[in-house]
Amino acid sequence: MRLIEVSKKYGVQVAVRNVSLVVPRGVLACIVGPSGSGKSTLLNLVSGIDVPDRGEVWVHGERIDDKSDDWRARWRLKNVGVVFQFYHLVPFLTVLENVLLPMELVGYGSRSERVKRALDLLDAIGLEDKAGRFPGELSGGERQRVAIARALACNPLLILADEPTAHLDTENKKKIMELLAGLVDRDRTIVIATHEREFLPKCNIIVRLVDGCVEKIEGVEA
Ligand SMILES: Nc1ncnc2c1ncn2[C@@H]1O[C@H](COP(=O)(O)OP(=O)(O)OP(=O)(O)O)[C@@H](O)[C@H]1O
Ligand SMILES: [Mg+2]
Repeated sequence: MRLIEVSKKYGVQVAVRNVSLVVPRGVLACIVGPSGSGKSTLLNLVSGIDVPDRGEVWVHGERIDDKSDDWRARWRLKNVGVVFQFYHLVPFLTVLENVLLPMELVGYGSRSERVKRALDLLDAIGLEDKAGRFPGELSGGERQRVAIARALACNPLLILADEPTAHLDTENKKKIMELLAGLVDRDRTIVIATHEREFLPKCNIIVRLVDGCVEKIEGVEA
């Protein structure tokens, strides 16, 4: 993932200011910084949910910011797993159906392959016995685990998480952090915006934002 001199304003408010950043494959990066420093904005630019006013956004060798909204939405569904602070599960779908949803939208494999993959993912997060429950029947930690399973459904090479543990107790925080850190592999890039210091030792790169600018990058940078 590569940002080249990226800036984003909302009205007169500068949210991200001339940020250049490289996060190679196989790396877990954390974005830290005070409230309002531009962490969520930065993630939204990388996922293509939003586009910059200036600069370029590249993900796995492809430029995404100059494409249409439709193109980016389809690209995101296939290539990016997004985990939000408030889970954003679909309340009237079961746990299994929530995990199936992105696969159905992109036409991933056959129906039976999709169901098998969804059940395998639920198994991996220890929630296979809750497949038929609705999100409203789960704890916050369980919901976030389902959101992570859903983010992994189409096997994305980029995973973005915006304060994924903000609303969890200590034990669930730890579980979610370990789950996310365990997703790093050779080809995958993971970027997490967080206030949790406990995440930081697991990171290969720590990017500190202040007032929309990169103040400091620690760790390996390719
Ligand atoms: N949709 C929007 N409309 C107007 N201003 C926005 C919008 N989104 C973000 N901003 C502004 O841009 C700046 C950066 O916001 P952002 O949400 O990226 O910060 P953050 O680092 O994620 O903060 P937090 O830690 O509170 O989540 C803030 O000043 C915010 O008020
Ligand atoms: Mg934020």
